[in-house]
Amino acid sequence: MSALLEVDDLKKHYVLAGQGPSDNPLIRWVRSRMTSAEDHTPILHAVDGVSFEINPGESLGLVGESGCGKSTLVGMLARLSDKSSGSIRFAGKDIGEVPSKVFHAEPERTDIQIVFQDPHESLNPRFTSFDTIAEPLKRLKGITDKKELTERVEAVAAQVDLPKMLLSRFPHQLSGGQKARVNIARAVAVEPKLLILDEPTSALDVSVQAVILKLLVQLKNDLGMSYLFVSHDLNVVRLLCDRVIVMYLGQIVESGPAEEIFTKPAHPYTKALISAIPNSAVVGNQRVRLTGDPKSPIDPDPNACRFHGRCPMGEDKCARAAPPKVDVTSDHYAVCHFAQSA
Ligand SMILES: Nc1ncnc2c1ncn2[C@@H]1O[C@H](COP(=O)(O)OP(=O)(O)OP(=O)(O)O)[C@@H](O)[C@H]1O
Ligand code: SF4
Ligand SMILES: [Mg+2]
Repeated sequence: MSALLEVDDLKKHYVLAGQGPSDNPLIRWVRSRMTSAEDHTPILHAVDGVSFEINPGESLGLVGESGCGKSTLVGMLARLSDKSSGSIRFAGKDIGEVPSKVFHAEPERTDIQIVFQDPHESLNPRFTSFDTIAEPLKRLKGITDKKELTERVEAVAAQVDLPKMLLSRFPHQLSGGQKARVNIARAVAVEPKLLILDEPTSALDVSVQAVILKLLVQLKNDLGMSYLFVSHDLNVVRLLCDRVIVMYLGQIVESGPAEEIFTKPAHPYTKALISAIPNSAVVGNQRVRLTGDPKSPIDPDPNACRFHGRCPMGEDKCARAAPPKVDVTSDHYAVCHFAQSA
């Protein structure tokens, strides 16, 4: 089966304006000719060499702590921002080469849809629920006939359990859960091949989260599209995803089938995440506690493991050499000096 999405060595680096000697290329060029001083303009490595695939109909979970680069990564995949380097192939086409400013005119714009982190902020306050759901149908599918538009909007509202009477309401007249449904309806209305969900429930109350997650499971079964599901909540990822990738400071540190990641995690960071799940049955029921703060994503040392200093298993070697990618099984790897093949 050929992959729907193929991401290869994808990077997003931010040159930090005003924090180095200068971001002006001319001044940097003159300095490089006139002095022997190195250019120390700091660079933040938000996403740093990420590679993975998503197959048709597959759901992939992306987990990792705040600031590890999840939203930056999905922003590039949905072509809302440009990469620094690497490639993003969707259905065989290198969409990473299309500048984000003109991507709206590409046919793939319809096929990749994203549901953002906060439903309260991502709805236009001047649009009713109907307008919000109808907007991509008009813009991307070219549907202008009022009757057809109404039928399509009502059908998708039913799919996400949004009562018809709420279609005439504005966002401030909706609850958090209702707003989340409008957001999901907007994304699935155009029948995308890939639905990206960036922490779709994190801004909702716990009880509402459970209802929305049930809806997402239902949609996954009904619609058969591919999912990229970003979440802090590992239980949710286990419920929804076939495979999981774990990110730490801009890089993937472990990737594998969801069940294997949850029962036999191979990377110390994944072990810590899983052991923190209440009633977790892995790692001998021992809670692996992390101490200290993550390292800075600015100019990370290429010759050290980024988890060193926080890792309970870290040794001197980890501070002197970047860890290798170790195949645990044929479709499961971990990036650690001490990971072992099964
Ligand atoms: N425009 C920007 N300029 C400079 N740095 C940025 C920019 N956008 C994001 N970053 C940095 O990139 C890193 C990754 O941020 P990102 O929002 O992708 O994290 P995240 O994993 O989505 O976190 P969260 O779970 O909190 O949503 C962070 O260190 C962040 O400060
Ligand atoms: S390479 Fe070393 S510091 Fe990094 S995760 Fe493995 S044991 Fe921990
Ligand atoms: Mg984010």
